[in-house]
Amino acid sequence: MSRSAHPAGPRHADVLPEGHYSAPAADLNALDPKVWAQTVTRTEDGSVSVGGIDVATLAEEFGTPAYFVDETDFRARARAWRTAFGHDADVFYAGKAFLSRAVVRWLHEEGLNLDVCSGGELTTALSAGMPADRIAFHGNNKSTEEITRAVETGVGRIVLDSFQEIVRVAHIAQSLGKRQRVQLRVTVGVEAHTHEFIATAHEDQKFGIALADGQAAEAVRRALALDGIELIGIHSHIGSQIFDMAGFEVAARRVVSLLAEIRDEHGVELPEIDLGGGLGIAYTSDDDPREPHEIAKALGEIVTRECEAARLRTPRISVEPGRAIVGPTAFTLYEVGTIKPLEGLRTYVSVDGGMSDNIRTALYDAEYSVALASRTSDAEPMLVRVVGKHCESGDIVVKDAFLPADLAPGDLIAVPATGAYCRSMASNYNHALRPPVVAVRDGEARVIVRRETEEDLLRLDVG
Ligand code: LLP
Repeated sequence: MSRSAHPAGPRHADVLPEGHYSAPAADLNALDPKVWAQTVTRTEDGSVSVGGIDVATLAEEFGTPAYFVDETDFRARARAWRTAFGHDADVFYAGKAFLSRAVVRWLHEEGLNLDVCSGGELTTALSAGMPADRIAFHGNNKSTEEITRAVETGVGRIVLDSFQEIVRVAHIAQSLGKRQRVQLRVTVGVEAHTHEFIATAHEDQKFGIALADGQAAEAVRRALALDGIELIGIHSHIGSQIFDMAGFEVAARRVVSLLAEIRDEHGVELPEIDLGGGLGIAYTSDDDPREPHEIAKALGEIVTRECEAARLRTPRISVEPGRAIVGPTAFTLYEVGTIKPLEGLRTYVSVDGGMSDNIRTALYDAEYSVALASRTSDAEPMLVRVVGKHCESGDIVVKDAFLPADLAPGDLIAVPATGAYCRSMASNYNHALRPPVVAVRDGEARVIVRRETEEDLLRLDVG
């Protein structure tokens, strides 16, 4: 790996072109614990390490690009959610953020449940030993085959997403001689303050059944009338990467008022409510996420208060954090390739991955941090855009950040907080090989999802 000096790029720190970035950190070598996994630190020789292993060793053994998950941190976060919500509530990890069999085992061991939203996720969960009754099955367009498999394997709940699905699930369950426990997903009409593509509680979108116009009340009427399903609760998920608790509070209030309406109309008190996932994490030092215990307290209090006011028994609460558990636990390690300084603009730093391993920047304009990982440097800050190797100018990993001006091809750089929705949304664009996921813990690293190979690509291409 070359460590040769590269002609320093223009030092843009005090001539900043347009963009959205904070001033460079006083010390570019510092690793803000808000955005890095728990065991990430710098070794004495300046290299970033995780779980006691430095990145040069990891790159040598596993190659780049690669995702490294701090297993200690993952377990600690899962446990923090579990503890915060206690025995009267359930935590369903949202598998869409990142799912593998190792992750399923960690969740099982830490006492969490699992939310899946496809046959593939269900198979992964079951094959790693997650008990079916601890699985919730989601999705706005579940296939007949998926519903049948979910019912047959005995998933704990199916979250119904439409009028058609109420009938379809009831029919399938009945024909299998079963009564399937279900929740009904409602849209509560909250505009969550997040990117439009990841907000889900306003009415003009594909998920759930609107509370407005009595749609949800009508869905409840239909669900209660069918023998194949047992309606156990109401579900609401307002969106993703949300920091403001106000949206969750409004959602909780509206869901509880639907429970009261149901009690008044049908004489039935539904025993559960699910308030979904969506809690934001720190991608940069500017983000200030809430801790699980604060979230549990706020949600518990609002539900209890609203239920007391409506003279309802407090239902069992469940939540579905995905990003908030896995997001901060991993970083992506890249090797720096071409460096292109554009005078008066910024320096483009190309890495050996890109939008195929992190589509979030291109898709949501997401912000990330980045650090020189294979060494420290005292060089001046240089404004960079970290880009991938794909044939597309939108192939950006980190839009605006600062790296030391002596950055050189062969250096390793790491992008933190890539545990959620990066590997799970990775693609083979340009026939890129999806990177491995390596779990690191107590000085040991092991591949939990291996790197794709060109043989894998050819195996799918049947010629
Ligand atoms: N529950 C339901 C019903 C969901 O639809 C989701 C996410 C979650 C829980 C978990 O949300 P989380 O806690 O991870 O925010 N690809 C986007 C995020 C899409 C989220 C889809 N649903 C991103 O990369 O930001």
